[in-house]
Amino acid sequence: MSGELNEHEAVMSGHGFYNRHSVLQAAAAELGMAALRSAAAVVPISAPPQPLIVADYGCSQGQNSLRPMGESIAALRARTGDPITVVHTDLPGNDFSALFESLAHDPASYLLTDGNAYALATGRSFYEEVLPPASVALGWSATTTHWLSAIPGPVPGHLNVQLSEDETVRAKFANQAASDWRGFLAARAAELDVGGRLVMVEPCSHPDGTIGSENVMRLMDDVLDELVADGRLDVDTAADTTIPAWLRTPAEYQEPIDDHPGLALVSGRVVEGFPSPLWTQFEGSGDVGTFVRAAVGSMRGWSEAMLAATIVDARDLDWFYARCGELGTADPERLHIKVFHIVLDIQRR
Ligand SMILES: C[S@@+](CC[C@H](N)C(=O)[O-])C[C@H]1O[C@@H](n2cnc3c(N)ncnc32)[C@H](O)[C@@H]1O
Repeated sequence: MSGELNEHEAVMSGHGFYNRHSVLQAAAAELGMAALRSAAAVVPISAPPQPLIVADYGCSQGQNSLRPMGESIAALRARTGDPITVVHTDLPGNDFSALFESLAHDPASYLLTDGNAYALATGRSFYEEVLPPASVALGWSATTTHWLSAIPGPVPGHLNVQLSEDETVRAKFANQAASDWRGFLAARAAELDVGGRLVMVEPCSHPDGTIGSENVMRLMDDVLDELVADGRLDVDTAADTTIPAWLRTPAEYQEPIDDHPGLALVSGRVVEGFPSPLWTQFEGSGDVGTFVRAAVGSMRGWSEAMLAATIVDARDLDWFYARCGELGTADPERLHIKVFHIVLDIQRR
């Protein structure tokens, strides 16, 4: 469906499902941990009663935020005994209950390991300002901004626009992604304190335009086509189903930072050979069933909320993922996701 997305709908699968099926995103976040620690060691530290704020943009259900927020707090704690406030942000429809459960009960929660840390949350799109001007010392965001604020047009024949060979269609998404990214940067430039830092780990496309997960996207296209062929899904509805995402190239990420007068790129590192932990485990064990369950669970975690708008019958939705699993069992390579990443460390001038 084209147009503005309904921000009251969750992007990730609810009831903590994403928390239980997001090891790929957790592994990606690890790529930014060293940059996050370095940034935390030098950001400006405000003195009480001014709060010292760390912001977690696009927190989802919180599981994968515990480690970066814990690392941030540990690095800041080496510099101050004052209270540290973490603000987790996501869209209004996000499963914030799962976030608060993680914060309260997960042994890795910074609320349990640091006696002077406080957690807050806000449900508002990060493509606008979500926190007061100059209030944030340290920001973090992982696997988030490839989700666009709107779908700029239909993508005939594909769920993922980056499989389309139609340059006009692709350009619409690239333009939407560019405009969203400029909006994101402008909002963070307003929120970050002078000298404050924002560390991000984002999936990106290769400079040649490939995304590394074409096989998985083709598998999903094929299964959607089967639903249409079976008469279980209307052809127009299927054609109107689009993943609201664009994996920017490294240049599409970096150039707008360089162009922003209030921001400086401290470092930008592209990670090409990032191995999927699910595939690595499968190579070691040879256990197809475990691999397929984990890979389809991961796929469901990020795609179910979106597909449920199209495949409205819950039995058909279950069938969709079961069929992806069948085809993946016959040829596990079809579920082998390979994503390029960019690690960005951005400073507010
Ligand atoms: C793949 S999850 C990543 C969650 C977590 N950062 C991690 O590393 O696992 C992407 C998250 O970004 C959020 N998101 C997408 N668009 C957003 C927006 N415009 N504003 C705030 N959050 C957004 C989604 O709701 C989702 O929770």
